[in-house]
Amino acid sequence: MQVWNLGRLIAPTVAAFILALGLLVPAGAQETSGSNPTAQAVNEQQLLEELNKIQGRVTIPDGKAATLQQPQGRDYRGFHEGALPWIGGIAILGMLLVLALFYFIRGRIRTRAGESGIKILRFNAIERLAHWTTATAFIILAITGLNFVFGKRLLMPLIGPEAFSTWSVWAKYAHDFVSWAFMLGVLVMLVAWVWDNLPDRYDVNWLKVGGGFFDKSNRTHPPAGRFNTGQKLIFWAVVLGGIALSVSGIFMLFPFAFADINGMQTAQYIHAIVGVLMIAVIIAHIYIGTLGMEGAYEAMGSGTVDLNWAKEHHSVWVEKQQAKANAGVPPRTVPAE
Ligand code: HEM
Repeated sequence: MQVWNLGRLIAPTVAAFILALGLLVPAGAQETSGSNPTAQAVNEQQLLEELNKIQGRVTIPDGKAATLQQPQGRDYRGFHEGALPWIGGIAILGMLLVLALFYFIRGRIRTRAGESGIKILRFNAIERLAHWTTATAFIILAITGLNFVFGKRLLMPLIGPEAFSTWSVWAKYAHDFVSWAFMLGVLVMLVAWVWDNLPDRYDVNWLKVGGGFFDKSNRTHPPAGRFNTGQKLIFWAVVLGGIALSVSGIFMLFPFAFADINGMQTAQYIHAIVGVLMIAVIIAHIYIGTLGMEGAYEAMGSGTVDLNWAKEHHSVWVEKQQAKANAGVPPRTVPAE
């Protein structure tokens, strides 16, 4: 009785499978071609050339299974295994090299007037929380993201396939979940800082003198508002890059929910290229916020900066803060310790 039931279950399944296979294989390919042993290959090739993919019909719910060959998939694999590691390697190592050269030639950018002892509030607690949430998330995303590109080539030979496999599983989970903190952080920074990052009349001059970065005598300090032009470029790179990463990332977090196979591959191209370029940009940002410029880190660390630092790097912003203080708006200054 049981065997009979099993038979009733298996027979239609096998029949459906054979039918599906029959539909998948092109008609010409099913003929036995005794006289022309290459006929099958020729037909598939013709089909590929005409339709750009080999597709049939299936009866199972997953309609994607009907696509047997999709040549763009091979292009994507070629990009992932070939061009992408080169783009990433050149962007990241190139940036590290440029920064090392800059450091050895220009040295650390000092506050020319020295410390005044008067502190001004530059970033409040919410701004700092948003910044450090985004920064922590981005660093995790960068490390786990680079594992997708370079892990198999660089890390696996060092730690062996088993450890690499365990690490990669965790790296993938971290990448998927931490992405939400990054998206939220970028959104909060956008709302908090967009106004201060709009172009203003100081930008052209700032760019003309390279922000004073290349003046070894440290006398060139072009006027700037709350954010100078270099920082505005970083801000827009983070916002626009962050949006591109978020949208393409959501496409990948929910595979095939919003796109077909071609759309999925496009999302991966965008995500991978924007990701590696943004890592290079952020390396430059981290450099200037720590080693590259005296007094900069404090702004995001404690939230306050020395008045002389602010005057040298953000003179217009300081004037506005002081004008507000004179007009009775509570000042953003903090008593010296
Ligand atoms: C360890 C990593 C990081 C450090 C040490 C750092 C440091 C800083 C500092 C000191 C500032 C304030 C500069 C000022 O007072 O004018 C700042 C601002 C900012 N940071 Fe970061 N940051 C880091 C990572 C990140 C990451 C990963 C992102 C985004 C993905 C980011 C986005 C921003 C933006 C948009 C600003 C405002 C514009 C600007 O100053 O360039 N930061 N950061």
